[in-house]
Amino acid sequence: MTASANVGATAEAIRHHYDVSNDFYALWLDPSLTYTCALWGEGDTLEDAQYRKLDYLIEGAGASGAARVLDVGCGWGSMLNRLVDTHGVGRAVGLTLSDSQAEWVRERYPKVEISVEGWLDHEPTEPYDAIVSIGAFEHFARTGLSRSERIATYRDFFTRCRSWLPKGGRIALQTNIKGNNVVMDKRTVRDLMFIIETIFPESEIPALSEVVESSEKLFDIVTMRNDPDHYSRTCQEWLDRLRANRSLAVEYTGEQNVVNYERYLGACVEHFRNRHLGLARLVLEAV
Ligand SMILES: C[S@@+](CC[C@H](N)C(=O)[O-])C[C@H]1O[C@@H](n2cnc3c(N)ncnc32)[C@H](O)[C@@H]1O
Repeated sequence: MTASANVGATAEAIRHHYDVSNDFYALWLDPSLTYTCALWGEGDTLEDAQYRKLDYLIEGAGASGAARVLDVGCGWGSMLNRLVDTHGVGRAVGLTLSDSQAEWVRERYPKVEISVEGWLDHEPTEPYDAIVSIGAFEHFARTGLSRSERIATYRDFFTRCRSWLPKGGRIALQTNIKGNNVVMDKRTVRDLMFIIETIFPESEIPALSEVVESSEKLFDIVTMRNDPDHYSRTCQEWLDRLRANRSLAVEYTGEQNVVNYERYLGACVEHFRNRHLGLARLVLEAV
């Protein structure tokens, strides 16, 4: 396998998840449709905590006021919009593999740029000042690869990011990580297998050590925090909202899909709380 072969989740696998229905996700995500762990502060609503997270990562990446910023895995565009609308960024470029996300972003945020392509295919014409990536790294290596194959893929990602940034340029990266320090029981293994098979096909969560090793000699790690309780709480909020809007969710996507999402979100509430999963937020600086 060459380092540049696509060993991440395929576009079909990504669409299986993200193209379920924009209306379905709008029922239980916050109004900005941010679909990753929030950063909770005192008295926050889910929406406040999502903006707190976006601002934390923008500050970490040094992206405020920058001319060009890349968001790898931009979802429904909340980060892109925050960059141009609140942080005075000149050009915010987002990559997604989902057509329905791209359509949503084009309709709502005319000031940002969005491209339906993976990071492997991205060829910027000019360097970026900063890069952010939230909740996409989990899709970069397909299920079942060996540790060394995963590291080769992640290293390819960091090598490309390095070539798109000046020395001292930063990436703010948020990703789920395996909670390798806590032994799983059988039910946990079954839940995680269900998530891999039914909810996020072809995707495997990295170990923190893999993220660190694959960035060596390319980036210095400036800050790193692990916030599993923040993701447990975020998933609980999403689950409560999904349940509160259950009949519409069934109308949009069918009973079986809603049952699957209830199981997936409920399992995530528990497995982040039990430390079977972790949530890493890192700031890396190009050397
Ligand atoms: C969980 S969503 C997170 C979206 C957004 N960052 C947020 O916080 O709401 C993951 C995103 O990663 C994108 N993605 C997955 N694999 C990718 C790849 N190889 N290249 C670029 N984007 C990818 C998906 O299309 C999706 O937009």
